[in-house]
Amino acid sequence: MLGLYVHIHFCRQKCFYCDFFSVKYDKYLAQKYVAAIAKHALQYKNIQLDTIYIGGGTPSVLCENKIEKLLESINNAFNLRQLKEYTFELNPESASEEKFEILKKYGVNRISVGLQSDYDAYLKSLGRVHNFSQFIAALETAKKVGFENINLDLIYGFPNQTLEQWRHTLLNAVSFDCPHISLYPLSVEENTPFYKNAITTDDDLQRQMYEKACEILSSNGFEHYEISNWAKKNRQSLHNSNYWRNCQYLALGAGASGYFKGQRYKNTADIGKYIAGGKIKTEIENIDGKTFETESIILGLRLINEGAPETIFKNKTQILQELLDAKMLVKEKGRIKLSRDYIFISNLVLSRFI
Ligand SMILES: C[S@@+](CC[C@H](N)C(=O)[O-])C[C@H]1O[C@@H](n2cnc3c(N)ncnc32)[C@H](O)[C@@H]1O
Ligand code: SF4
Repeated sequence: MLGLYVHIHFCRQKCFYCDFFSVKYDKYLAQKYVAAIAKHALQYKNIQLDTIYIGGGTPSVLCENKIEKLLESINNAFNLRQLKEYTFELNPESASEEKFEILKKYGVNRISVGLQSDYDAYLKSLGRVHNFSQFIAALETAKKVGFENINLDLIYGFPNQTLEQWRHTLLNAVSFDCPHISLYPLSVEENTPFYKNAITTDDDLQRQMYEKACEILSSNGFEHYEISNWAKKNRQSLHNSNYWRNCQYLALGAGASGYFKGQRYKNTADIGKYIAGGKIKTEIENIDGKTFETESIILGLRLINEGAPETIFKNKTQILQELLDAKMLVKEKGRIKLSRDYIFISNLVLSRFI
């Protein structure tokens, strides 16, 4: 399996909680950026891909013309005959029927929509630029154009959100008939307005919210397959599962990370340098056997039903045994998995392998 991640680092406005690599949308810069991605893609001419994920930032902030140029350049550079999944991330405020038609035309078969909350007051307090009715309109248009493999992103445990309101949000989310849902507990990151305003989160409440999500999603036919991800049958994200299985993926776009032919790397996050071309890869790391083992364990354990193969534990057998004895991990048919009680606090377990 080989994936391709394409990073579009533009957003209409920075959300108050987000420290992902993104800058304010600028149409002239975006034009040069899409051209730079097209040029970069040619370095991988004819390579066969299994999955593509165009994420951000906000890829849908690009105008119709640029989306078409971007998808056309990917189609022209790579071999997409075996492509199984092609995801495009979008935010409700920048969705349009024409954009959905372009995505469809170029073979995009999955969309990921950043809903975050179904309460307008919360969306405002998170610094989102869309409201709930814009989400509904975007969803209806996506379905009209023929998209049904849709993911929804939601955040929980932010200031003033109650357990009862979260329960209502979850019930609403399952009613939209989207087969994939990603749920993230708010994490207050440095260099964000939330951090500067000393926003704090309540661990106990976030745990109760996580448990409520497990209950409501499982009773509505969703399988909890990764720490933060739930899917209906056969609707798990193939692209992200490829990451968690520690398989290879290429990266296009400034600041994007890749893993190819035994090397992890990051493309320069300097947009000017990325547009200028030349030496794009930075932070190149050759992955030796020990690093491969550690990464395969940490990533594999995230897939809570699949786990990591026991055979991968070669240098970490002592920690493995300790965690099995402490019932933080379980062994089933040659696979090592997180115990149910430790999924929400998985960092406690995963960090033991670093
Ligand atoms: C980098 S964003 C890209 C998606 C898209 N731009 C959006 O805003 O919906 C991916 C997801 O990460 C989650 N996220 C970002 N920052 C977070 C934070 N500080 N705490 C929890 N979740 C966060 C949000 O749910 C978001 O949808
Ligand atoms: S959450 Fe999404 S829209 Fe908001 S700043 Fe981050 S990447 Fe941009």
